[in-house]
Amino acid sequence: MTLKKGQQLELDISDIAIGGMGFTKYEDFAVFIKGVVPQDRVLAQIIKKKKNYAEARLIQLISSSPLRIPPPCPYSGYCGGCAWQFLNYDSQLDYKRRHVIQSLEHIALIHGVLVHPTIRSEKIFGYRNKMEFSCADKTWLMPDDMAQGVADTGFALGLHVPGTFHKVLDMQACLLQPELGNRILNDVKAFMKNSGLPPYGLRSHVGFWRFLMLRHSAAYDQWMVNIITASEDRGVVQPLADMLTNKYPEIVSVVNNITNRKSGVAVGEYEILLSGSSVITDKIGNFKFEISANSFFQTNTAGAARLYEIVRQYAGLTGTERVLDLYCGTGTIAISLSDMAKEVIGIEIIDSAVADAQQNCQLNQISNCRFVLGDMREVLPQIGQSPDLMIIDPPRVGMHKDVVKQVLEMKPSKIVYVSCNPATLSRDLALLKEGYEVAEVQPVDMFPHTFHIESVARLEYRK
Ligand SMILES: C[S@@+](CC[C@H](N)C(=O)[O-])C[C@H]1O[C@@H](n2cnc3c(N)ncnc32)[C@H](O)[C@@H]1O
Repeated sequence: MTLKKGQQLELDISDIAIGGMGFTKYEDFAVFIKGVVPQDRVLAQIIKKKKNYAEARLIQLISSSPLRIPPPCPYSGYCGGCAWQFLNYDSQLDYKRRHVIQSLEHIALIHGVLVHPTIRSEKIFGYRNKMEFSCADKTWLMPDDMAQGVADTGFALGLHVPGTFHKVLDMQACLLQPELGNRILNDVKAFMKNSGLPPYGLRSHVGFWRFLMLRHSAAYDQWMVNIITASEDRGVVQPLADMLTNKYPEIVSVVNNITNRKSGVAVGEYEILLSGSSVITDKIGNFKFEISANSFFQTNTAGAARLYEIVRQYAGLTGTERVLDLYCGTGTIAISLSDMAKEVIGIEIIDSAVADAQQNCQLNQISNCRFVLGDMREVLPQIGQSPDLMIIDPPRVGMHKDVVKQVLEMKPSKIVYVSCNPATLSRDLALLKEGYEVAEVQPVDMFPHTFHIESVARLEYRK
């Protein structure tokens, strides 16, 4: 029997595939289904059929897996913020570790490497120190809303439906951020709605209000509010900043980023300081960091502290080494290693991150770190002397192959590769294994209820 598009089947889910979809085999077909977990029995409808795999849509949960738990968030299943609240946390950790192992085996063809059990996140809700909510000129309604006759108000401020750029849920709260963030979200939304100015249409590209970004410092319980608008109108946004700082003493920074670019990225072409400071200060381990609106900073502060402990452990520094920190962001790893190394040089493409990194060194009275601004492909070949240790913490897309080549030519005796994407980690390790042995890998969960996993790999040069 062959599968047909539209066909309905009863299926027993056997596994979770890379990317988080439930998976089972039906005859010779791999069938992938969203929103299910192993040991679920479901009725599903085939929506896509390719040569040797199919995708199906969940129609009915016939019997529920013991791994399932009731998701506490009302948007679970519809919101792209997190997609795994219905899977118990221990199972999330197990699956994430397996995904790291499977990626190493299938993509890098590296077998038998020691991959430690995933380190759990200290908090599994309220752990995110940064949230980005989008404005839209349509409210994306959930089935329950529609059943209750809730109408589209022509305004939404919230998170996207997974995989969409224009479908935004109008959210009252996100459980991934600390509670005060939700009160700020609702106050900002009420202000925007009453302002008389329109939200930015994600299809029309017309309108004023674009995004709300919130940052929280866990160490000092401080908040930054970043309002992203399509044009400059201080007369409108200043009263919003004043209202927020009067109401919440925890808000120490309100900035307005302005961009009329069509891309859906919450970064301004320029920024106006509306209240307080343009940065907030947070702490990872013993070090303080100043973070500006557009700088990269790990989104789970307690998770970052655990991650950097592993980096320190894998680095095994004695105080005499020269270290290169590739993709250094605001210098957090460089600074965390500075008391164990002779010198750390960070390389980073975003100028505000480099400025923050320099400022962060001053803040922590560190004098043995310096930072070079530029694209890794251009800067790395100009660095000269090979380091003893390289830290590599690239963006999700991983390293450019020319950069991998350059690293292989520089032959540092040790590499600690930090990755938020097991697939690109594995792709890069497949190239690096020409000169390096992967000694061990430590997955660290920085993103509970999502499929994402951070990993630290320790690589030793093959003599
Ligand atoms: C995953 S973050 C790592 C940041 C830092 N190591 C940390 O833990 O906070 C990746 C960083 O790489 C930077 N980046 C991306 N592409 C780059 C490139 N081509 N050259 C240099 N830096 C780049 C990004 O701006 C970002 O700060």
